[in-house]
Amino acid sequence: MKLILVVLIAAVVPCLAVDAAALTADERNNLPAEKVAATLVSRLTLEEKVSLCHGSNTWTVAAIPRIGLTEPLTLSDGPNGVRKQLILDGYGDAGRDDDHSTALPRTTVLAATWDRELAAEFGDVMGAEARERNKDVLLGPDVNLMRSPLTGRNFEYMGEDPCLAAEMGVPIIRSMQVYDIAACAKHYTPNNQRNKCSPEETRADERVLREIYLPPFEAAVKKGGVLTVMTAYDQFRGEPCSQSDHLINRILKKEWGFRGVALSDWGGLHTTIAGALGGLDLEMGPTAKIKHFKQPLLDAVKSGEVPEAVVTDKARRMIYLNACLKKIGGERRAAGSRNTPEHQAAARRIAEGGIVLLKNDAGVLPLNPAGIKKVLVLGENADLQFCDGGGSSQVKPPYEITPFEGIRRYFGDKADVTLMPLRLTNRFTEIPSDVLSGRKWQAEYFSNTKLEGEPVQAKDWHPRINSQDSRLRKDVPATGFSVRWTGKITAPETGLYVLGADHTGGLRVELDGKRLVDDWQDGENRFADAPMELEKDRVYSLVVESFQSARNPFIRVRWQEPSIAPPTKNELVSAVKAADAVIVFTGNQINRGRAPKVEDEQRAIESEAMNRPNLQGPDGQDKAVATVLEVTPNAVVVNLSGAPVAMPWVERAPTILHAGFGGMEAGTALARVLFGDVNPSGKLPYTFPVRLEDCPPQLVGDYTLFSDSGDVLVKMPGKNQGKVDYSEGLFVGYRWFDEKNIEPLFPFGHGLSYTTFDIGAPELSAAAIKPGEDLTVKVKVSNTGTRAGAEVVQLYVADPEASVVRSPRELKGFAKIFLQPGETREVEMKLVMRDLSFWDIESGGWNAEPGQFRVMVGNSSRAKFKEAVFVLK
Ligand code: BGC
Repeated sequence: MKLILVVLIAAVVPCLAVDAAALTADERNNLPAEKVAATLVSRLTLEEKVSLCHGSNTWTVAAIPRIGLTEPLTLSDGPNGVRKQLILDGYGDAGRDDDHSTALPRTTVLAATWDRELAAEFGDVMGAEARERNKDVLLGPDVNLMRSPLTGRNFEYMGEDPCLAAEMGVPIIRSMQVYDIAACAKHYTPNNQRNKCSPEETRADERVLREIYLPPFEAAVKKGGVLTVMTAYDQFRGEPCSQSDHLINRILKKEWGFRGVALSDWGGLHTTIAGALGGLDLEMGPTAKIKHFKQPLLDAVKSGEVPEAVVTDKARRMIYLNACLKKIGGERRAAGSRNTPEHQAAARRIAEGGIVLLKNDAGVLPLNPAGIKKVLVLGENADLQFCDGGGSSQVKPPYEITPFEGIRRYFGDKADVTLMPLRLTNRFTEIPSDVLSGRKWQAEYFSNTKLEGEPVQAKDWHPRINSQDSRLRKDVPATGFSVRWTGKITAPETGLYVLGADHTGGLRVELDGKRLVDDWQDGENRFADAPMELEKDRVYSLVVESFQSARNPFIRVRWQEPSIAPPTKNELVSAVKAADAVIVFTGNQINRGRAPKVEDEQRAIESEAMNRPNLQGPDGQDKAVATVLEVTPNAVVVNLSGAPVAMPWVERAPTILHAGFGGMEAGTALARVLFGDVNPSGKLPYTFPVRLEDCPPQLVGDYTLFSDSGDVLVKMPGKNQGKVDYSEGLFVGYRWFDEKNIEPLFPFGHGLSYTTFDIGAPELSAAAIKPGEDLTVKVKVSNTGTRAGAEVVQLYVADPEASVVRSPRELKGFAKIFLQPGETREVEMKLVMRDLSFWDIESGGWNAEPGQFRVMVGNSSRAKFKEAVFVLK
């Protein structure tokens, strides 16, 4: 009965049936997508056109069956694999068990490969899997630049250099789109940090925009033929990017000739008329937030505020997109495939290629597995799964091999591989109030810093001080006071707990009369921790004392429960001594739940929707690493992070790998590099600074940034709210370090190998070129060591005679080459006029000034360069 009804309705309601508005077989076979779009849009009603300009829910745009567009357009994240299936009306998990996809390494790892072929493989996996999951638009790659090392989303980007991000983005897009899947270059731009008061207003001048932040998007459009571009949440020059006529109409569509669809970030469109006139084509967002391009857009056309031609153009672009994806007229679309061994092997190869050997001073690596019977893996990071986290880039893989698991599998039963945690702050949790004998704590406040005399105030309150609690301290001086809390603690189970206290000022803690913490000195932002053996149900007395002289007093006492308690120093030392190989994991975690909101909890965690407050690792980690290195300098340090971190123990660590977040095969890849099956060839796509203070001013709006030693570097509550001054201008990443002559910890482009290479002098195709001519640069590379391996030749250009400020050198090309021992081959790179140009504010165009240019080749941005010069006439 139901079936008959549907057939009847389809027969009488035009929009449910394909009617004369659809293409004839002849048109379908002969018209290119542009013509299909122009033809079909002329057959649409205004209402139908508007229906193509907004999501009908969080992830799809409605179909128009009567023109042959029978299926909705389906969009999905993300940048490193197809996101798990979410509910149609939001971000909730749809709870499916058939939505696993290959989790590729995060895009910073891909960028660290400096390998265009691997970028193409990356896109190939994404395209094939998106097609198999029946998606149409995959929301990636992210081609924003890493401007601040603290941005929580850095792991989704492709480093700090426009040339690298552009060159790696293009192959992803091209090979993804082969599958009749649209790639989406995001977030157009700038979009280089996230803070509490998003959307931020970005103040970057036109030259900075053109030379630094736009090139990866420009390449995505002009070279990659990307079919969609997502605008950023940020504001640019006082208006949201989603309605920026300058960015969308003028640059993207007019100058670059973008033919596809400009869509908003989710909920990122804020107005109807400005949005429509600014050039945005498609409003997307959580269902409830999609409103501006619905009825209000229809009304605006009817009232004449938005010309109908503007909406027609948007609808035409949407049909063009659908036509390119072969969604109109029953063409056969590319076949997809998912979770295949080939895709998993690609994930592994990319992870291997993106591992960067930072130091190998004593030649400890590769480790020889033959002599190893006992491997000690240290650090909780070694066995955490990261793929299904981090925000919209989460992917649910069918399995994920953690580094610990990878090392264990590598040995099978041939060696004993054990894991021991190091301390991680974010494993500290609030002590539940029933454990802390309810809230019945006695707090006595003294108006001096020595707990002397009679208390000026007594309260029932558990041990905590922060600015919100100041109302509890009415009679207590704002600075210069002391406090003693006395209470009881009852453990829910027997075991070794760790008490952890974040604090300013002095702190002492006693458990049943035994002093656990004695940090009675002044200072800001410190952390103290102490192990405590507790027996189930026994009541202990706990006394916490503190003095405070800072303006912003802060104390928070938490604990870590026994299941994850770290080893004591003695346990650690004896485990290290007993092992044949010690591998220590440091770095950050990818947030796997909601991004933490409290600044100090964001430390050592990377995620969309947050920034880190400094470069520091998790509490206690660095101390533990230093202890391990004291016992055995042969310990291998493996850093997992999507962005630079502080390495206070770097001088003591002769062997360091930087492995990033390597996707579902991260552990296999890492084991193969550690034990020499794979020779590392990754190069850093970003600069590791020695300290945060060495980076350009990190002004990210209403946000507090702490130096690595805990001092407040920038605090901007309320003031300058939401404004981000790009005051470093062109000097982003290594450009800043070179311009200011600051020694980085590890420079952009750095990465060692188990073999050695010799890079020859650049041979130029001409000593002088005329405007409009290209220049070819040839470089001989030899593998001078004993293992096969790959080297990345990097080509930097300097314009010392420029009439405007220019960076000391800019990456303009690179080539990765694999060589057998003793082999020599030549790589060829091309320089075009644009590579010599700066954006000329006055003429509003690219300007290559006549004069001498320097060409520098080497294997990092701080290499001993081999140089040549040429003249532009
Ligand atoms: C992110 C985008 C993402 C979108 C859909 C936004 O919050 O910024 O990168 O594609 O959500 O999940």
